[in-house]
Amino acid sequence: MSLSATPPPGARSDWTIPQAWDSYTAAEHGVWDTLFARQTAMLKGRVSDAFLHGLDVLRLSEAGIPDFGELSERLTALTGWQVVAVPGLVPDDVFFDHLANRRFVAGRFIRRPDQLDYLEEPDVFHDVFGHVPLLADPAFADYMQAYGAGGLRAIRFGALEKLARLYWYTVEFGLIRQRGDLKLYGAGIVSSFGESIFALDDTSPNRIAFDLERVMRTDYRIDDYQQSYFVIDSFEELRRQTADADFAPLYGQLEGQADIAPDAILPSDRVLNRGTQRHARDRPR
Ligand code: PHE
Ligand code: FE
Repeated sequence: MSLSATPPPGARSDWTIPQAWDSYTAAEHGVWDTLFARQTAMLKGRVSDAFLHGLDVLRLSEAGIPDFGELSERLTALTGWQVVAVPGLVPDDVFFDHLANRRFVAGRFIRRPDQLDYLEEPDVFHDVFGHVPLLADPAFADYMQAYGAGGLRAIRFGALEKLARLYWYTVEFGLIRQRGDLKLYGAGIVSSFGESIFALDDTSPNRIAFDLERVMRTDYRIDDYQQSYFVIDSFEELRRQTADADFAPLYGQLEGQADIAPDAILPSDRVLNRGTQRHARDRPR
């Protein structure tokens, strides 16, 4: 497939740029170290085993912003994935094409010290700390590659909005049940100090058993913590329901169906926690 837009000056035709690891300042490495220490302390006992295992085998606890070349070497040996730098958000087809080829695109810049808690654009901490550990898990690694191929396919079916919701509610904001307990795995949660607590402990959000069709119909909020989280049983099961399935009939079926509001609960839902939605009410809209 031809790529839609022209990459910015300085970027290669696939939109990648050199990470230029040597040009990070000591202060920038320091921001990574601060965020890393704070998140890992808080995530202990809250995050999936697979995530902790990934941090460990990829040696992400070494000081400073990781060098994508070294990180890719470790990752390639485990699951065949690489991490490549991009200047910022890339067009959908470019993003999917990288995933389909087991390349994870990551921002190279890091947030400023006054943005530790929140920033609007994903930076290297979100992209690498949040996303990369799970790429060391074989089932999750397969899921992400298949998602990329599925994204290119969804563009042709005009179904990108539906498929993007699957990414949102799994890769970014997913919860997993592990030996009976809820744990975090979504990158948007695990890279956020506030949402790591909120998603697991707060009484406000719904926690609902993952259902593929249901998730693909559900709108999401980009401006606040989620009002519903969806809970998978394992990455193998997620892969089975998605990578090993043909979405074409599903897209057809979904076409006539109404979208579901982010806070809604349906009679057919398997609800683990019915949220009070107190947080959403307290926030000005
Ligand atoms: N198998 C899906 C399809 O037929 C693609 C997909 C794979 C979607 C993995 C999500 C995750 O389009
Ligand atoms: Fe992300």
